[in-house]
Amino acid sequence: MLNENKKSQPGESPNLTLWSSKFGFLMAAIGSAVGLGNIWRFPYLAGQNGGGIFVLVYVLATLLVALPVLIAELMLGRAGRAGPVAAMRALIVQNGSSRVWTGIIGWGAMVAAVLLLSYYSVIGGWTLKYTFSAILGLFTHIDQSHSAHLFQEMVNNPWVLMAYHGLFILLSMLIVVGGVEKGIEKSAVIMMPLLFLVLAILVIYAATTPGFARGWHFLFDFNVKNFSMRAFLAAIGQAFFALSVGIGAMMTYGSYLTKSADVMAVSLKIALADTLVAILAGLAIFPIVFTYALAPTEGPGLTFVTLPIAFGQMTGGIFFGTAFFVLLVLAALTSSISVLETFVAFLAHHFNMGRFVATVVSGFVVWLLGLLTVFSFNILSSFHPLEFLGITGTFFNIIDFLVSNVFLLGVGLGIAVYAGWALTQQVVAGYLDVHERSIRFVLWRVCVRVIAPIGIVVAFVFECFLS
Ligand code: PHE
Repeated sequence: MLNENKKSQPGESPNLTLWSSKFGFLMAAIGSAVGLGNIWRFPYLAGQNGGGIFVLVYVLATLLVALPVLIAELMLGRAGRAGPVAAMRALIVQNGSSRVWTGIIGWGAMVAAVLLLSYYSVIGGWTLKYTFSAILGLFTHIDQSHSAHLFQEMVNNPWVLMAYHGLFILLSMLIVVGGVEKGIEKSAVIMMPLLFLVLAILVIYAATTPGFARGWHFLFDFNVKNFSMRAFLAAIGQAFFALSVGIGAMMTYGSYLTKSADVMAVSLKIALADTLVAILAGLAIFPIVFTYALAPTEGPGLTFVTLPIAFGQMTGGIFFGTAFFVLLVLAALTSSISVLETFVAFLAHHFNMGRFVATVVSGFVVWLLGLLTVFSFNILSSFHPLEFLGITGTFFNIIDFLVSNVFLLGVGLGIAVYAGWALTQQVVAGYLDVHERSIRFVLWRVCVRVIAPIGIVVAFVFECFLS
């Protein structure tokens, strides 16, 4: 079964790089989608913004806005048979479209990919450091101030951050340098099932704790008064980030997909798996937080300050704490390799580099750029580079904001408009290999032409100008 889609597909050039199996592709793509965002951002957003109603809106935003764009992105990658820039160039020639699209989608995605990876890998480094701390039992009996101190001590030290950031990139490079099939695919089919297993263990453990009921209510009760327009738009933004769309990684992964793969069906699987992991992460985290009478704080605080206190108090805390941080490492690593691959494929294609050289260059550039994020927590923590424009925030804040709110949404909008309006119905039906009058194709077209663009524009305007 594993080799049913091996290289020599009829009508496909024999020297194309392709995934060796559908399962391998699915694990790699779900790996890209399931990341830090699922584990530290989604549960908190849901809990604070109305619980069940947020979950419901998030699922709708995923299905109606993010999923249609994911389908389009994978489709464009497969049709253009390359990463974002080269794929768009090929598609423009094939379809006689304007060159503007290469700028918006191709270059926009590349810049976003490099920027995202520069800070994502710094946080990936934190997850590595915390895994070691958990194994060494450093959380045993720590209290709130001790835990906050441990975290501050780490981020205050640029050398420590640089080292772990470097280690995280090095791990990603070791996988990517092996190639699509032997590196990315092979590691994904091990890491993703492992991630599901660890998550299952944590959820089962959480279900036995006294805080489970409260955690469940926090996440699922309909708390309409906590839901707002702001929460609605946060759901759209989060759905985009969560599915890894708008950054070219899915386009690059799509370029290795065989003609026989059903892009719509696999995209739906990716979206469902990603959403399930986000919800299960909430069910693993909040019961533990409530059991130890802690507060469900946001993002890094929740993951790196609050949870270690709980692990330090529970029986078997070394085991569960280690399991949790291993979960984060796996989630971060499988996401970062998809972005690194986007950069590597770009360099290999445009600068004629071999995979080894391209990987070394990409890793080094990302590490170097990541120093801006590293220093944002220490030596440059009070430097606000855009203060003269009235924008306060460190380099890290600005890069994070640019990537999640400007680039992802902008490139995502470009993909939706290109696939929905610039290409004809006939062409896209051909690319997707579906019947023009099939229900799913008609539904997808409505979403990608109308619903997704409106959702993206509203979220974008709100995030950039009104919040
Ligand atoms: N989807 C990842 C997460 O939820 C983030 C990501 C975005 C990864 C874009 C790759 C590309 O953490």
